[in-house]
This record gives sequence, C-alpha cells and structure tokens, in this order.
Amino acid sequence: MCGIAGYVGNKEALSILINGLSKLEYRGYDSAGISIICDGNIKTVKKKGRISVLEEFVKNDKINGHIGIGHTRWATHGEPSDKNSHPHTNTDGSISIVHNGIIENYIKLRDDLISKGYKFLSDTDTEVVVHLLDYYYKKDKNIKDAVFSTLNQIEGTYALGIICKDYPDTLIAARKGSPLIIGVGENENFIASDVPAILNYTKKIYLLDDGEVALINKDLILIYDKNKNEVKKDIFEVTWDMESAEKGGFEHFMLKEIFDQPKAIKDTLLGRLKNDYINLDEIKIDKQILENINRVYIVACGTAYHAGLMGKKFIESLCGIPVITDVASEFRYNNPIIDNKTLLIVLSQSGETADTLAAVRLAKEKGARILGVVNTVGSSIAREADDLLYTLAGLEIAVASTKAYTSQVVSMYLLANLFALELGKISKNDFENVKLTLEKLPGYIEDILKESDKIEKLSKEYINIKNVFYIGRGLDYFICKEGSLKLKEVSYLYSEAYPAGELKHGPIALLQEDSLVIGIATCENTMEKLVSNLQECKARGSKILSITTENNNIIKKVADNIIYIPYAGEFITPILANIPLQLFAYYMAINLGRDVDKPRNLAKSVTVE
Ligand code: M6R
Repeated sequence: MCGIAGYVGNKEALSILINGLSKLEYRGYDSAGISIICDGNIKTVKKKGRISVLEEFVKNDKINGHIGIGHTRWATHGEPSDKNSHPHTNTDGSISIVHNGIIENYIKLRDDLISKGYKFLSDTDTEVVVHLLDYYYKKDKNIKDAVFSTLNQIEGTYALGIICKDYPDTLIAARKGSPLIIGVGENENFIASDVPAILNYTKKIYLLDDGEVALINKDLILIYDKNKNEVKKDIFEVTWDMESAEKGGFEHFMLKEIFDQPKAIKDTLLGRLKNDYINLDEIKIDKQILENINRVYIVACGTAYHAGLMGKKFIESLCGIPVITDVASEFRYNNPIIDNKTLLIVLSQSGETADTLAAVRLAKEKGARILGVVNTVGSSIAREADDLLYTLAGLEIAVASTKAYTSQVVSMYLLANLFALELGKISKNDFENVKLTLEKLPGYIEDILKESDKIEKLSKEYINIKNVFYIGRGLDYFICKEGSLKLKEVSYLYSEAYPAGELKHGPIALLQEDSLVIGIATCENTMEKLVSNLQECKARGSKILSITTENNNIIKKVADNIIYIPYAGEFITPILANIPLQLFAYYMAINLGRDVDKPRNLAKSVTVE
C-alpha cells in the first residue's frame, strides 16, 4: 500500500526521504519517487520498481535540497509504471504532490480540467489534485487558500504531501480518511503516512485529523481545521519500537489484518454504492450480456474458493442464475463445458495463483468471458480478465488470508446485486436495504473485534483439544469451511468442516471427548435442525462452541460456550460469523506456540501448480 514521507529542515532531504520510504517497504509497493526543491526548482525522480531502483537513478544526480516529499505507490488507478508513480507535478513543474487514498470523483474533475486546457500525463486519480491546485493557486495567489479550494472539490480519501517552488521553506500536509502524521524535530519537521518512516528521527508526533491542513516549516507547524481556523494539538509520544510499529502495534500481521477488516470493507465499498445502482466501472456486463450467458463458473483456490462458494449462493438466490463452483486445480482437468456464452468468475488475492491463472487461460482460449475479482492491482489475472472487480483490501502480508477473504465475499455480494439490478430481479427498495446493511457492516465488524479478549480467553479452554469439527447449514457451511481452513493453516490442529446434516453419515464416528464441535448458527430456517445435530455431537461427549446471533435462546440448550454476533440479514450475518473464527484460529495458534505469520509448508502466493 502507498507510503508517504516528507522533510523540511537543515539536513539533506534526499537521504531522509529514501530512509523514510524504505521503512514503509513492508507495506508493499510497486514504484517509488521523490520531489525536492533544489536550487530554486522542484526536481522529481520516480521509477517503477523497488526503492533501490530509485536510489540507483538519483545516486549521480546532484539533488541537494532541504525540503522534499517521497512516495511508495501500490497501484489502484493505472498500472505500475514510471508515469503513474508519484510525485505528480503541475505542467510547469512548480507544484508537486504525493497522495495516498482514492479520489472518487476524479473522472469528472479530470474532464473539467481538460476542458480548461490541462494535459494529463498519467492514468492516476491523483493527477487531478495537482492540476486543480495549480488552477486555484493561479486564481487565489496563495497556496493555503488554493489547497483549501482544491480539497473542497475532492470527494474520496486522501493523505497529501505538497511542495511549491514559491514556498521553498514550507511543506504542506492534508488528510481525510487516509492516515498522515507530522513528526516534530529540532530545527526540522517531517510528514509520514505511518510512524516507522520517522522513528529514526523523532518520537514526537502530531496526528492529523480528517479535514485538517498543516503548513510546516523547519521550526513552525501551523495546523488548520476545515474552516481554516488554527487548531492547537497535543504532541503524541510514540512508545513502540520499529518492529511493532510496522505491525501497527499488533503482535502479528495476521492479527493486524483481522483488525484491518472494517477499513478493508469501507475501502471495498467506497464510491461503489450509489443511490439506486452499484458503480463497478470495470465490469461491462449488462442485461443483454447476462441474458446471453448459458453457464457461470466460479473458480478459485483455498480461501478464495470459499469466498466463491458464498458468491454462488448470492448469485443463485438473487439472480436465479445457476452457478457451478470448482477449485481451480480440478476445473482444468474436469473437461469443463465452455463456449463463448460462458462467464468464468475467478477470485484471487494475489492475482498470480498458478492454478487460477491456468483456468483463466483455458477458459479464454475456449471463448469464455472472464471476470476477475482480484486484490493485487496489475497482477496477471487482473491484466488478463475482461471484466475486473478490485477487492481493495490493501496489502495482505500474513499467509493466512483474512481481510482479503472478507473483501472477496463482500465483492461477490456487490456483484450478485449488480447482476440482479441489471436483470430487474430486485427492486429499488430491496437495494436500499442492501445498501443500508452494507454501510453498517464495518461497524458490526468493529463491535465483534472489541470482543477479541473474550475469544482469546475462551480459546485457552480448548488447549487440549485434538480435533475440531465445524458444522453449519446453508451459507453457514461455507463459513465453516473457511473457519476450518484457517485453524488448520495456523494451529496445525486436525480440523474438518461438514454440512451439519452430513455428520451422521460417517464423520460422527470420529467424535470423542477431546473433540470440539463448532456450530455456526445464523441460518434461521434450519436452526432447529442444527441444534439437533449439535445434540448428537454432545451425546458423544464432544465440547460444543456455537457462534450465533444475539437473542438466539434455543442454542443455549446445547452449547457449552456461545459467541454472539449482531444480526445483519440472511446474507451478511454469516460474513460476521467468520470474524470470531479468524480470531479463534489465531489465538489457538498462539496458545500452541505456532509461527502464525509464517505457517509451516505454506507460501503466500502459490505460483506453481
Ligand atoms: O492469492 P489467491 O487468493 O489466489 O490464493 C489462493 C490460496 O492460495 C489462498 O487463499 C490460501 O488458501 C491462503 N493461504 C488461505 O489462507
């Protein structure tokens, strides 16, 4: 994900910017760049690739200057390339900016600016900001006013670092929805998107709030609220060391990413839920195309396959279109029936999984239309798909996928609703409810995460358990499959997921006193049946843990322990049930002393078949 570093002071800015950016490398990025005011002019160097590529380029250039901004980019709009890298400058090179976040209304702003004669050099949403700033600066003749005028026009999220040739001592910062901090030094100050970038220089920081703009000189920091009133802030003292700061204070990336989920969902939904339609501009499948499709496959691997199973149910229920799901490694060798009326939906966090990519190529060769649901921008699957839905979960580092999965499921729900709207299968009223529920989803997840201490405590009760069975019905069964995979991956405990009614057809023979049965109980129409299935397990001496919605009294009859989640409707409640399962898997692994971020035998991206 993108990173920002900025400096103003007496030292050479270049090495401080490079050092700051390199401390943000763990977040992942595809290009890097810097702008420095050097001999009265802004000098910008930006390169696709690692920071070392950038360093190589600037090594022999004499870029001496005491004020500058730097950026590592993780592509969202436009492929990774030199021209799309930040900083972006206005046409005469007198203003330079770096940006994290997404400008939602950039297409409209870009069209307006083009009509005013502005020329765009990149495919990014960011470039509109620098041209807009140029426009207002020429009008307002004052950089502070121009920044505020610009921000008033922007919809979306941003953390911005700005330098202007006419203000050679002033670094400008602005924030809304994307983190940005100001590091306070002696005769020098910094900006950064995250603490590690400045920890080598200072532990004193100001945390910018949404809507605030800061004008920063080497010995003066002025912060303004959105109404241009000066605000006084308390300095925050950082107490973390470098390693924990990179994980945002969490002990492991897996836990950090579990806690990232409210933001990942917000980002996935950002700008997509409109009043009476869903804005997925890289999907060009309309009613006519949908009516012409004779077969829909959903194909993926591992966790992404589990998200695909949820997608099947969403599309079948909302659109009435039958869907076949398959794991990618099987799909290719099952002689799938594919022609030019087939739609193949593939899900992948990395966008590079070899089996999934091979399925894409096979289906494409036979004429199918490919819709990719992908997290990594510019990845192979993203490039080869005809239609694209980015999950926008941000960088996922832990091998065990958590926030990417939740974003994939939410994306499949968006897709199913998009198709249903196109086909006229759901009314505007239905869609209004979908929207309201999705908008509440990040808040519901936050509420569940607040209970993480309880789940940690609970997990300790099961330290001697030898095997874990996850059972559920309907969508809950698919959540069981993901919960079981997560536990296996990180704790190495033996675990299986079964449709609850299937247990007595064989697997029940395995149940003993050292077995734990986790019953996911959100599907109302099969609740009583699930409770009976749990009774059957209890009768064999197994421990019973259930995840269910508040006010479910019937489950109390059978469960030894219950984790409650909010009720958010038939399709969204199961997504919530997955969050405690992720935490449970994590804490079980910790209890057993496992290396959760790097589980044995597993790789983050499986690029071999
Ligand atoms: O990058 P992908 O989403 O294509 O990866 C697919 C699987 O390899 C992945 O989901 C794997 O199962 C994870 N380790 C699950 O946590």
